[in-house]
Amino acid sequence: MAKRIVTAIDVGTTKIATVMADVKSQDDIEVIGLGVVPSHGLHKGIVVNMDEAKSSVASSVKEAQKVSGLRIDSAYVGVTGRHVSSINNHGVVSIPHSDRLVRPQDLKRVLSTTRGAPVPEGKKVLHAIPRYYALDGQERVKKPVGMHGTRLDVETHIITASVSSVRNLAKCIRSAGIEVADLILEPLASGEAVLTPQEMDAGIIMADIGGGTTDIAVFKDGSIYHTAIIPVAGYQLTSDLSIGLGLPFTVAERMKKRYGNVMPEMEDDQVEDLGLENGHTASHRDLCNIIRSRMEELFELILLEMPTTDYQSLAPHGLVLTGGTSNLEGLDELGRAALRMPVRKGQPYAEIYGITDVLYDPAYATTVGLVLWQARDKEPSAWQVKRGGIFGGFVNLIRKIFRS
Ligand SMILES: Nc1ncnc2c1ncn2[C@@H]1O[C@H](COP(=O)(O)OP(=O)(O)OP(=O)(O)O)[C@@H](O)[C@H]1O
Ligand SMILES: [Mg+2]
Repeated sequence: MAKRIVTAIDVGTTKIATVMADVKSQDDIEVIGLGVVPSHGLHKGIVVNMDEAKSSVASSVKEAQKVSGLRIDSAYVGVTGRHVSSINNHGVVSIPHSDRLVRPQDLKRVLSTTRGAPVPEGKKVLHAIPRYYALDGQERVKKPVGMHGTRLDVETHIITASVSSVRNLAKCIRSAGIEVADLILEPLASGEAVLTPQEMDAGIIMADIGGGTTDIAVFKDGSIYHTAIIPVAGYQLTSDLSIGLGLPFTVAERMKKRYGNVMPEMEDDQVEDLGLENGHTASHRDLCNIIRSRMEELFELILLEMPTTDYQSLAPHGLVLTGGTSNLEGLDELGRAALRMPVRKGQPYAEIYGITDVLYDPAYATTVGLVLWQARDKEPSAWQVKRGGIFGGFVNLIRKIFRS
């Protein structure tokens, strides 16, 4: 692959992170620009105040440009929020050629048949990801082009998103002078950063517990199998602490990060009152108890979003936690006790170097994943981004098929 500069903008509920990377090859990625600023104007993953969101994006982009000394023209942007939903769909076509050889246009045809799934009013297909093909009944074929057969089946994962939510997000980015090169569902990006191909093959659940949303993705047979977004994460946890302990939000947020711990039992010597600035105090035990019960509830919500109750067969590798909230001490241990499955924290793993200062934190799994998505030439979205005109997404898809 030719050397190229790629840019990703992770528009989160609490932070906006712009990363510029020099991709020399798939595993030689130098981060050359980074701009992280607090996010304003977003709630649970969607834009609620356009002016505030625009200016947050603009300052994050400006900072990254300053660090790299380069201008950003276009960027990959993450999408999340309750408006996102997904289904698995199936398509089938016959191979008409006399030699019965599967050609790229047959792949295009079979994929387009799966797009016919009913899309709710006001929504559009964001991703139509082929999970695997079957050729004359032979399942799990990854690349059928060049193989012989008479019947080609495809299993796809279709992700839809609200047209107006995505348009508002894109508008924020464009107003900072940046073209949206493509849109990627955030949990797909996070998975790229923290999961191994073996885990994705055998089956694993990933939960990115951020500020406003918990983004869930299940990977199976090497590909995405299920996605869901829960509108509960770190922000709601702080809000509960603020109400439960009678503290201002900002004080509760600081206490959560500094003293929060979800270990099942609290030792006697830890039961002290925490003195904080401006005379605010709270019991350490109360703080941890609230956090623990909220996190136990969140684990239950994650399981409720699963497509089956046979978690062992679905995800033998268990659950991987990312997002800022997964920094809570003991959260993996609590998860193992609550869910009775393997649970680990996922840090973006280290095939990136350069200005990576904060990027190895689980809070940056999506950010790093958005860079890796480009570096690894992953499936383009089906969204018709402006750059490609009205047929942009379709052209991208065809381009990808010809490359594979
Ligand atoms: N050490 C910590 N302990 C507990 N919570 C933490 C810690 N560090 C960060 N957080 C929480 O993580 C959240 C931010 O996570 P993250 O940066 O992944 O969110 P985001 O990407 O801005 O939001 P989203 O993806 O939900 O739109 C905040 O609610 C913050 O309080
Ligand atoms: Mg995030």
